Amino acid sequence: MTGERRETPGRRRAAIGARPPLADARGRALRDLRISVTDRCNFRCVYCMPREVFGADHAFLDRKEVLSLEEIARIAALFVEQGVRKIRLTGGEPLVRRGLETLVEKLAAIPGVEDLSLTTNGSLLTPARARALREAGLGRVTVSLDALDDAVFKRINDVNFPVSGVLRAIDAAAEAGLAPVKVNMVVKRGGNEDQIVPMAGRFRGTGHIVRYIEYMDVGNSNGWELADVVSAREIVERIDERHPLEPIGANYPGEVANRWRYRDGAGEIGVIASVSQPFCGGCTRARLSAEGRLYTCLFATSGHDLRALLRSGASDREVRSRLAGIWGRRDDRYSELRTAATRTPFAADTAAAEAPRIEMSYIGG
Ligand code: GTP
Ligand code: 5AD
Ligand code: SF4
Ligand code: SF4
Repeated sequence: MTGERRETPGRRRAAIGARPPLADARGRALRDLRISVTDRCNFRCVYCMPREVFGADHAFLDRKEVLSLEEIARIAALFVEQGVRKIRLTGGEPLVRRGLETLVEKLAAIPGVEDLSLTTNGSLLTPARARALREAGLGRVTVSLDALDDAVFKRINDVNFPVSGVLRAIDAAAEAGLAPVKVNMVVKRGGNEDQIVPMAGRFRGTGHIVRYIEYMDVGNSNGWELADVVSAREIVERIDERHPLEPIGANYPGEVANRWRYRDGAGEIGVIASVSQPFCGGCTRARLSAEGRLYTCLFATSGHDLRALLRSGASDREVRSRLAGIWGRRDDRYSELRTAATRTPFAADTAAAEAPRIEMSYIGG
């Protein structure tokens, strides 16, 4: 790669705002970029990386297959020129990636990035790491925690990791100013549904926001069934019985979570109803895998190889035009089709719902 084909930061800065935001085939703007920095994780959550599939002999990506920090930052900057304002780092587990703080610094320095966040399982988020990430320019974190009961949590993470370790990470994040901290709980019928109300009780009044996520049929390895889903409506009803709730509006158009606040002023929760009330209509998210494939949907069956383009020496202009072409043709609305197929099984919708998909640990959730 020669320097001449890359534009100067000054030229790039001038480009931001100068271009109208890209719209896809359904008129949806490109606003968010979710970057998976590694396909590896130190947990083996039963619904995401079950041991039978992700065992000792599983072929994770090789180091040279993974985008370098410079390659990620370059792609991100070009995305920001095309309208992206929110960047989220994911994995696998992003904190296992070496040099993460350097990447955060590079991303935070891109003019136009308004929100830079990270989703983590918390196991490696020590107070020192949280401070380093904050100093590098990270805005906030979302920590996954599926239960407060140790036995339930360990059964889910399958690596014997205790709840106390994640609670410490949440405190470390808040103390470092990576706030508000969001706490993601994937709810599975018969798995951790008894933890819904305790989680609300534990985090009410702390300033942290619990987000209850309907269990989704991502990937091919979690054996998902509709019967495993506890609907957003039921989740809200259960919490409301104990701690009365009222709905509040979205923070921004196309927000994934529906927000509710405690009537007694103890804060808010979010409920992500991707199965019972799909939100494809407002979906402005692009996803970049650790090996540099661009996916226009969480449930995509294939991605666009940006790594090959970059490593062939493409200029910024060429990459930009490729991004625009991919986004312009985007027509995905998987969750809507799946929901339609579970209600009235039309052949086309059912086929979309049954096609082989990319694993969540690879594409980053
Ligand atoms: P905020 O910026 O804090 O609002 O983040 P977010 O709502 O995007 O939250 P987060 O990245 O933590 O996503 C929470 C969960 O929502 C993910 O882990 C997924 O389970 C689900 N989710 C996020 N984006 C999508 C999406 O585009 N489609 C579907 N079907 N689910 C999504
Ligand atoms: N359904 C819903 N959410 C999931 N996550 C992982 N797998 C699933 C699934 N099948 C969540 C994780 C984490 C985020 C990255 O995605 O718990 O909070
Ligand atoms: Fe669990 Fe997240 Fe790791 Fe998947 S990526 S195994 S959900 S901690
Ligand atoms: Fe967006 Fe695909 Fe999720 Fe629908 S299913 S909201 S199109 S990522």
